[in-house]
This record gives sequence, C-alpha cells and structure tokens, in this order.
Amino acid sequence: MSKVDVLLGLQWGDEGKGKIVDVLTPDYDVIARFQGGPNAGHTLEFNGIKHVLHIIPSGIFHKEKLNVIGNGVLIEPAIFKEEVEALREKKVVPENNLYISKKAHLILPSHRLLDAANERAKGNAKIGSTLKGIGPAYTDKIARTGLRVGDILEFDFREKYQLLKFQHLQMAKTLNFDIDSFRIGEMTLDEYEAKWMDSLETLRAFKLISSEYFINNCLREGKKVLAEGAQGSMLDIDFGSYPFVTSSSTITAGVCSGLGVAPSTIGKVMGITKAYCTRVGAGPFPTELFDETGKKLCELGHEFGATTGRARRCGWIDIPALRYACMLNGVTDLIVTKPDVMNDFDEVKMCTKYIINGKETDEIPFEFNEVEITPKCDIYPGWKQSLASTSKYEDLPKQLLDYLSVIEKVTGVNIYAVSISPDRKDVLFK
Ligand code: GDP
Ligand code: IMO
Ligand code: MG
Repeated sequence: MSKVDVLLGLQWGDEGKGKIVDVLTPDYDVIARFQGGPNAGHTLEFNGIKHVLHIIPSGIFHKEKLNVIGNGVLIEPAIFKEEVEALREKKVVPENNLYISKKAHLILPSHRLLDAANERAKGNAKIGSTLKGIGPAYTDKIARTGLRVGDILEFDFREKYQLLKFQHLQMAKTLNFDIDSFRIGEMTLDEYEAKWMDSLETLRAFKLISSEYFINNCLREGKKVLAEGAQGSMLDIDFGSYPFVTSSSTITAGVCSGLGVAPSTIGKVMGITKAYCTRVGAGPFPTELFDETGKKLCELGHEFGATTGRARRCGWIDIPALRYACMLNGVTDLIVTKPDVMNDFDEVKMCTKYIINGKETDEIPFEFNEVEITPKCDIYPGWKQSLASTSKYEDLPKQLLDYLSVIEKVTGVNIYAVSISPDRKDVLFK
C-alpha cells in the first residue's frame, strides 16, 4: 500500500503550488485536487508557455499521468469547459488523463449570483471573494441541498436544477439584490445559464467515477498519489482568518475528506511558502507593507491574481502564521518560492513574533481580525545578486542560505526545495 503525498500552500494562497506540482508530477502516478474550485489560479510555465489552471490538477500537461478531481472540489461546468478548450489549444486532450468524482459538487450560475449578493450585502465587511460561487455552493453542500456531478447523468437533473435555482433567486431577492442587472462577464444570468447548460456536454464526455475507490485502489496497487491543495492554510474555513477565508478545508485534514483516503495513508506533507508573503482580498495581514518595499514586491513578483487579476497585497514573511500552518498540516518538507523577487533588496525582514497590546506572542489570536498587531521583525542582509545561473541549492548566495536556514530553524521543518523563477526548470532540491 503506498501513501498519498500532499502539497499545499501555507500562507494566503498563490505560493506557487501549480508550478511545484507540475515539477513533481514525474515522480507520481496520480495527481488529485481535493478541495476548492475555480477560485484557484495555478500557474505553470515551461518551454515559453504560460498556462493558468483553475479546477483541473496541475499534472495535466504530463500525458502519461492521471489527474483526478476529487469529491471535495467544486466544479463550475462553464469554467471547466473553458479550461478544457484552453488545454486543447495547447495540444493537451484532458479526456485522456482526467477523471472526475461523481460526488464533486456543482457551482450553478445562481450560486455565482448569490456570491455577488452576499458580498454586496456585507458592504465594507466584504471578503473580497473571487465571486466564482464558492461560498454558496459549499453552503448548499453542507445544507444537503447541493447538486453533484453525478446528478447530471440523471433524468430529473433539470427539475432539481430549477428547484435549487428558484431557492437561490428567492435568497437574492431577500438580500435586495438587483438580479436583472447582474452580469457574469457581459452575460445576464439567463444568457450565462444557457452557456452553462451547454457545457454540461463537455463534463459528460469525461470519465465520471467514484474517486474514493479509484484512489484507494491505486494506493493498493502501489501507485504514487500526490494531493494538490488550493488556496492556503490561512484561508482555511476553520483555522484561517475567519470570516476572511474560503469555504473549504485547505489543510491536510481536507485531503482525507476531499479524496476519501484514511489519515493513515497520508505520507509526506510538502508545504509551500513564498520567501515573503502575499494576500489577495480582505482580511488581516500583520506583515503587510504599505510603502515602496511593498510596491516593489508586488511589481517584481508580478503579484496580480491569476484568477481575478487583482493586485495582491505584499509584505514580509510571517513566521507565527507559518509555524501555525506547519502545525495544522503536519508539514514534513518545506518548499520556498520566489526569493529571486528580492534579489536586489539591501535587506530582508522576517516577522518572528506579533506584538499585541504591548505583549509579544507567537500565536495567532482568536481576535485576529480585530486587534492591532505590530510585527516584530528580524533583519537579514540581502544577497544582492541574480539567482538565474544557480543550478544547485548549495550554490545559492550565502546570505540567502542563511535566511533559509533561519526559516528551517524557526519552523522546525527542513527545506526540501527552493524555486527561483516561474519556470519549471528552476527548482533547486536540497
Ligand atoms: P498558486 O496559486 O499557488 O499555484 O500560485 P499562482 O500561480 O497563483 O501564483 C504564483 C505566481 O508566481 C505565478 O505567476 C508563478 O508563475 C510565479 N512563480 C512561481 N514560483 C516562482 C519563483 O520561484 N519565482 C518567481 N519569480 N515567480 C514564481
Ligand atoms: P490559489 O489556489 C489566493 C481568497 C479570495 C478571498 C477569499 C474568499 O490560487 O492559491 P472565495 O472565492 O473562495 O470565496 O474567496 O479567499 N482566495 C484566494 N487567494 N489564492 C487563491 O487560490 C484563492 N482562492 C480564494 O481572494 O479573499
Ligand atoms: Mg493562485
């Protein structure tokens, strides 16, 4: 029986999960997404190609490897169809190596309407959702009113769809939301619904399976499975900066419920962190920089959302948050991305503690959103050189190696690899 290795984000998302999964895929037989949905944007770069995936796992470019969308994932069929078409343009035929769980829940156009209605109703307290319908679709899942991929094969799917949509419209009206002026892109709800219904054909062309049996059979046959996380631990529904979170379990525990594998099958847990920190959307971010350095990180790191195009907020690496994420996930191996963004910095800072009401702490407080947090930072000298020609971990500049070894020390987790560019070829294994 082999194990399920896990790769997930330790911050507020966009740590470079897509790139690293693509790099690790040759070592695995199956790549499986276990949570999230089209709110994710996972960027892959290789051979001059840049490609962003949302619902489809990041192993898809490796034709001989199987990819699975697990039961814990949400599928928006119209976005899924666009993803499939974008892959076809790059000569990838995902029907050949992508299986989808019949138990994965569907995002309806009216879930997207409700997402917008909920955000509008929150006013200044809005979460900054990607507006892909994530919150409302997971709400229906938990309320036991949702529709699943397997339902599209049933004769009464349309009827169930209409019933659920009716309920959504009632809710939107209760929120005084102007349904007639709602648009997805340029489309009205009715126009988008027609597109959505058409795209069910694309979904039906895929192998729709009971992914829990499939994955457990793979493990019994000794096949290696990699679970690909979306979002990040600080966006986790339970442990993130609630309510400024997404609506799924983004941590290792989510792998078990999102794929149907037992806790005892979990192998390595690879946690990714940027060498600094970013966040997109609202919510607390203690190390956020509002100065020129913050702007520089955003510009040099091209920190614009892969799903929404929004500028990401930037700041120094946050060790209390990182330690918390390592604890929650049982991280066995750290992967650090994007130190190259700070190549010309004179100094690099690391927040090691929070100061709250004059007291130092290294715990994330329950009142994370309400209290004023001053980050206590240590300063490290910059490496002031390009990393472009570095091909071995130990050849990285000494200042960077020192910085990385402090990260290992304060988290208690060894670094497994460092990524030094967006490209597939630039990962240095320690
Ligand atoms: P994900 O959501 O975790 O897959 O990450 P995103 O794709 O949303 O954002 C990561 C961004 O950083 C993408 O534009 C990647 O191409 C880019 N990237 C990944 N690793 C590195 C790296 O080591 N250095 C630099 N400069 N960019 C990177
Ligand atoms: P990947 O997988 C960064 C953020 C949104 C918002 C909050 C809730 O690319 O790392 P939602 O659409 O889930 O209702 O949004 O979570 N968010 C992400 N931020 N990366 C992501 O995914 C994200 N997915 C959601 O910006 O603040
Ligand atoms: Mg992303």
